[in-house]
Amino acid sequence: MSTNQPFGPTDNAYLNGNFAPVITEEEFKDLKIEGVIPEGLNGKILVRTGPNPRFKPRDMKYYHWFDGDGMINAFYFEDGKVRYKNRYVQTKKWKFENAANRSLFGGIRSGMSTTLKGWSDLKFGWLNLLWMGFRTLIGVGPTRAQYESVATILNAANTNVMNLSGKLLAMDEIGQPYEIDREIRTIGLYNYKNKLEGPAIAHPLTDPFTGESFTMGYQPLPPYFQYYKISEKGEIEKYEPIEVPYGVMMHAFGLSENYVMFYHMPAVFDIKNVGTREPFHWMPEKGARLGVMPRDGKSDDTKWFDIPLCWVFHNMNMYEEGDWLVTDVAKYERIPLLGLDTNNPSPPLYMDPIGIMVRWRLNYKTGELKEELITDHPVEFPTMDSRFLTRKHKHGYFVMLKDADQEKGLWNTVVHRNFETNVNDEYCFGKDYYTGEAVFTPSHEGSKEGEGYLLNIVYNAQENKSRLTVFDAMNVSAGPVATVHLPRRIEYDFHGNVI
Ligand SMILES: [Fe+2]
Repeated sequence: MSTNQPFGPTDNAYLNGNFAPVITEEEFKDLKIEGVIPEGLNGKILVRTGPNPRFKPRDMKYYHWFDGDGMINAFYFEDGKVRYKNRYVQTKKWKFENAANRSLFGGIRSGMSTTLKGWSDLKFGWLNLLWMGFRTLIGVGPTRAQYESVATILNAANTNVMNLSGKLLAMDEIGQPYEIDREIRTIGLYNYKNKLEGPAIAHPLTDPFTGESFTMGYQPLPPYFQYYKISEKGEIEKYEPIEVPYGVMMHAFGLSENYVMFYHMPAVFDIKNVGTREPFHWMPEKGARLGVMPRDGKSDDTKWFDIPLCWVFHNMNMYEEGDWLVTDVAKYERIPLLGLDTNNPSPPLYMDPIGIMVRWRLNYKTGELKEELITDHPVEFPTMDSRFLTRKHKHGYFVMLKDADQEKGLWNTVVHRNFETNVNDEYCFGKDYYTGEAVFTPSHEGSKEGEGYLLNIVYNAQENKSRLTVFDAMNVSAGPVATVHLPRRIEYDFHGNVI
């Protein structure tokens, strides 16, 4: 495996191998294609985003995967050919650091550590800085205004990119979305005409049957959860603060035809911890709960149900069957990757604990929860044919790790799950190949559920290069129908969509 260490020697796994950033912005036209690009992809663009620190982190030991500046990777399908391009999202942080030509701000594991230049860019005067330092010292954490200034800077737009109500948005979950154009140039912050009351998560959901979208925010100050309904035209039609007893990370939520499901799991996000080494603390004694609210309901209408201790980043979908909500989630015993103690500055790369795929059935009247195992291999990134979101799905997708060395990457197998037959149709790329989320796009307008293609960026650790694979989503085990070769690698990223 090639050693990529653009910032010099480090044993931090997130700055090594294919987690290390690719800091050049390039465009490659007419890429080499094995096989044939399906007709149905012509005119479409795969856009993805991931963390890619532009400058050497201030403290390499404490750099975390979630910190890197958002880099958009885009594949343009044009008349059977493929063009690739990558550009940074020009966030506030990126602009300040680009002007200074060095890193100014700390990340998630170094709390609010930053340089004097960084504080000055954030408009913190001496008095304000001393006041915040004192508050951190006595354990109460920053004021709301101080926290909001810092959160703006931690927002790297590195988590997801998608079309929402006619805008192409690159998102993180600590701040607000950035709008970009189809050539992936940054337009600027987008906050729904100042109607976002705080940060917004990177997994908004659109009900394709009504055109309405929904999103959430979470923060370490009340209201800890915020819920929004967005019209098809992109207007925020409803804002509802959701009352919960303390702040936690909530990376995604569930949406069915009539209900939303909130995850209140104990990765506690306490303002008192902001400014220390780690703002999120796993507190199992606080337990895990699911909240179910009618989509048009109020906070008081939410029914909260205690469930066995666990952690969930992502779900595939949620639908209703009588009094039951059915949702497939990648479930962990505790939050992975975070909640590391400060004496453990170089986190091991492998997932500890691993995520497993389960189907939950929650009775929203009684709170009874039934769990069915789908696979106990390490999994992540459940996706689906989003034209059927909120309704019963027959097909779903996720990635899995099988028979491989976890030190080099996280997943190597694409899985298509048929929920009618309960059979997995899967493809393992083999030794030295690693991939992330599989993105579905339909083969043509009006195609049946699951009739379409799965797109994956795959890294070959031997060649130190990446490729894009295209699968027939109904026959993944047959292998890719087309493979597009890049002249270099693409760093491991998080999420994306076809637009
Ligand atoms: Fe995510």
